[in-house]
Amino acid sequence: MADATPTTTPPIHVYVCRAKSCTRRGAAELAAALEATFAAQGLPARVLRHDCFDLCKQAPNVLVALPGREQHLYTQVHPKRAAHFAESLVEAARAATPETSPS
Ligand code: FES
Repeated sequence: MADATPTTTPPIHVYVCRAKSCTRRGAAELAAALEATFAAQGLPARVLRHDCFDLCKQAPNVLVALPGREQHLYTQVHPKRAAHFAESLVEAARAATPETSPS
């Protein structure tokens, strides 16, 4: 029997650098792939664009804000790894979400 429990995972905010070096190394494709992965899985995440993080030599760069956790900057996130990256963020968000029990 399928689990009918609604997801309680709070939203993930993902900020993809849109500046020159990151764009040249696939940031737009990365952002699109992240959005597609989150949408395909029905996951609560927002992919936003951000100005340069001043780590251009390590492009493309992504800042992630998971609920209840400090923000973390990921460097050299290749667009081909977007799906795996998105799934790891969702797992981390779910792990950070306290269990809720039915009342
Ligand atoms: S261009 Fe993305 S960190 Fe500078």
